Amino acid sequence: MAEYKEYRGMCVVGECKKYYGTDDAKVIHEEPKGVEIKNVHLHDAVIVGAGLAGMYAALELKKAGYDVAVLTKVFPTRSHSGAAQGGISAALANLEEDHIEWHFFDTVKGSDYLGDQDAIEMMVKEAPRIIYEYEHMGVPFSRTPDGKIMQRYFGGHVKDFGRGGPVLRACMAADRTGHVLLHTLWEQCVKYNVRFYSEFFLLSLIIKSGKCIGVTVWDLINGGIHVFQGKAILLATGGYGRCYSITSNSHANTADGLGVVMRAGLPLEDMEFVQFHPSGLAFLGVLLTEGARGEGGYLINNEGERFMKRYAPEKMELAPRDVVSRAMWAEIEAGRGINGQQYVYLDLRHLGAQKIMERLPQIREISMKLLGIDPIKEPVPVQPTAHYSMGGIPTDICCRVLADGKEKWLEGLWAAGECACVSVHGANRLGTNSLLDASVHGKRAGKDMAAYLSTNPPYEVLPEDCALDAIKQIEWLLNNPGTERPGAIRKELQENMYNLCGVFRRKEDLEKMYNIIKDLQRRYKNILVQDKGAKFNTDLMEALELRNLLETAEVIVASALNRTESRGAHYRRDYPNRDDENWLKHTLAWRTEEGVKFDYKPVVITRFKPEERKY
Ligand code: FUM
Repeated sequence: MAEYKEYRGMCVVGECKKYYGTDDAKVIHEEPKGVEIKNVHLHDAVIVGAGLAGMYAALELKKAGYDVAVLTKVFPTRSHSGAAQGGISAALANLEEDHIEWHFFDTVKGSDYLGDQDAIEMMVKEAPRIIYEYEHMGVPFSRTPDGKIMQRYFGGHVKDFGRGGPVLRACMAADRTGHVLLHTLWEQCVKYNVRFYSEFFLLSLIIKSGKCIGVTVWDLINGGIHVFQGKAILLATGGYGRCYSITSNSHANTADGLGVVMRAGLPLEDMEFVQFHPSGLAFLGVLLTEGARGEGGYLINNEGERFMKRYAPEKMELAPRDVVSRAMWAEIEAGRGINGQQYVYLDLRHLGAQKIMERLPQIREISMKLLGIDPIKEPVPVQPTAHYSMGGIPTDICCRVLADGKEKWLEGLWAAGECACVSVHGANRLGTNSLLDASVHGKRAGKDMAAYLSTNPPYEVLPEDCALDAIKQIEWLLNNPGTERPGAIRKELQENMYNLCGVFRRKEDLEKMYNIIKDLQRRYKNILVQDKGAKFNTDLMEALELRNLLETAEVIVASALNRTESRGAHYRRDYPNRDDENWLKHTLAWRTEEGVKFDYKPVVITRFKPEERKY
């Protein structure tokens, strides 16, 4: 029987329908059918994710002569890298003195000394080359009057090893930097004939004798499982912001890569460190770039006061994100939020219409379209929004995934971009270092995969049961006679995560959150996927996503409970100080049926000894 759906909204395909509310869908059920493998595809390299990291890697592999497949949940130009606005950092010194060494120091200090300094040094040294490579690809950067790439201020990027004022380091294309980088990389991939498989959802890794030899995916458009076998597999699946109700992340950011890695028995690293960006549009979380403060924007409370003077008297609104988000939250808790609510104002009015329209056109459009507020005339309500995951899949400096989290490579598997933890951001990322990280490590992963392929590793014989877990998972979801709808569980998870495991944390809240997650996982066993159809079954997709969100949230909360200190974005009210003696180390967390198990590894410190972090 043909499937019939009626939605309250007009848009019933892909992700769009999320804006119209899935729970209103009326579905005439198809008979559940057995799930089958539709196809087995063979490529030298298989990349999951088409953001900056995935596409940069694909280009490197293609240029080296390898056959590469890029699988992506959304169409490539809708990948979340495109949402980054303000810039990509590199010490180009186009407008004033800057040095790679300063960028190195700022990133280490910004990480609250948890970033691995060998990896950070490599990244900041590579930064200028990456920018020029983008320029040669045709990225339409904003320009200085004499034609150089324009740069702006961003939080935590300063002169003279932290001693000076802000430095112009963020290379920018107005406030659409991620967008133009993503589109340019896409054009390059098209030019080089990279093969894309759009709207495929990652289900599992295929691991044989300690080697990763492929992935299984669900075809969102037509239904059915596909097996992609390769000799070199890259995960570039992005972050998990959708664990939270207020987030700048796209709807697709549901920890799909982290989920399959955990279920393959691998650890995740430093998952307690979740970045909250200070300027999320109030109530919605949509990003309003830090570049707005870089251009001179103020944060003000309900008394009209620039409150940052009490929290970061020197750097003010350009202190790093963890510091600014805590300051905003402290103001809100002290009753100085606007109208007694969970937001303050971002005031740009003094910048004037011309500057706003020239340098911040997108955030003006966002504020006007979503809240009906024109920043030229009125201050915009903002609140901290879950923005970035400093932790992720542990890799070495060449992006090889570490099976034990420390040194043992899971042969055949790489990870890059936000899903990975190299670790270049430690406990807190500096703004504009994410586009840099994704580009540098995407390229590096591609090069390393190409070098590996040049040694001619053989294709392994696929185990007969290579897709069995994936098939069972889908069949169970389609046939489970449950009553719980995915949307209801997801909402409870997201709202509680924002309130109990957010900018400030404490033991009682985290314990409460952990129990909530356990309860939601029990309810997940009673899940009901109403739509039984194959084509564009977004009900099924949301159930798959939800499992990843629940398991990832469990590791975030357990890791936050475990780390009894405050460092970077992880602030424990009950342990307000940084504790280098006991906690200058990375967390490795394994999710098991008996709970989350921990191990640790040392931080790589080469040049800058940990110091007190003040701004
Ligand atoms: O504020 C922003 O434009 C975001 C940039 C980033 O997260 O790096």
